Amino acid sequence: ILDTAKTMKLIIQSGTKKTPHLQGKTVITLFYENSTRTRTSFELAAKYMSGNSVNISVSTSSVAKGETLIDTGRTLDVMGTDVIIIRHSMAGAPDLLAKHTNAAVINAGDGLNEHPTQALLDMFTVMEAKGDLNGLKVAIVGDILHSRVARSNIWGMTKMGAKVVVAGPPTLLPSHIKDLGVEAYTDIEKAVEDADVVMALRIQKERLEKGLFPSVSEYARFFGINENIVKKAKKDALIMHPGPVNRGVEITSALVDGDSSLIDTQVTNGVAIRMALLYLM
Ligand code: CP
Repeated sequence: ILDTAKTMKLIIQSGTKKTPHLQGKTVITLFYENSTRTRTSFELAAKYMSGNSVNISVSTSSVAKGETLIDTGRTLDVMGTDVIIIRHSMAGAPDLLAKHTNAAVINAGDGLNEHPTQALLDMFTVMEAKGDLNGLKVAIVGDILHSRVARSNIWGMTKMGAKVVVAGPPTLLPSHIKDLGVEAYTDIEKAVEDADVVMALRIQKERLEKGLFPSVSEYARFFGINENIVKKAKKDALIMHPGPVNRGVEITSALVDGDSSLIDTQVTNGVAIRMALLYLM
């Protein structure tokens, strides 16, 4: 997938942005949760490859009338859909859908479980900037407990030979996290020390309501990525964030827009990765 995405990026950069690979194929995005980057990049990827892409707006679909996930999937399936891209609040929803449809199913984020295409685009972005993931130290900072992005990146980056460390408040670090082959810290400076990549995660306001940390400002003070924290990392460390960003909370605005930031590149590469996936499927 990562190798194919290199070719897809060249196609995006070529300006013509058109290949015939998905001619006659139908791709449906079925998102039960909000999205800007993932949904749009899948739709663009399908269009760039001459596929027919359709978005189902869950709030105005028959899901709002009580239709089950399986029945919605079957309905889309019998319309001749080739690929369904699903984001759902329940872990395992894409797997369930795949068992009940002939269409290929791609997970665009399922509950607290995984966000595999985000991890693929993150891995691609690091490899593009550094040449290789093998031997790099990647520090992922924030709400590890509720982050499907963190989980997918841990699987992917450790498989590619990177050393992954995670950091966050004790209430937001899963107790079993070391079983995934990572080091875990509550001291962000230790986590970031000599890192090649520093990835901040979005702080979700609903976690505040559950009392998992006292206030947004306190979170920003102790766990926000700022210029002083980044000085602990390697001089050429890269700054990443899956988006959407809460500027000034999990990361300073200056770092988001700074020279070391790969945040915009991550978004661009998201289209290339999703083109690669659709092409290979
Ligand atoms: N990173 C990510 O999944 O962003 P969206 O929620 O905008 O798709």
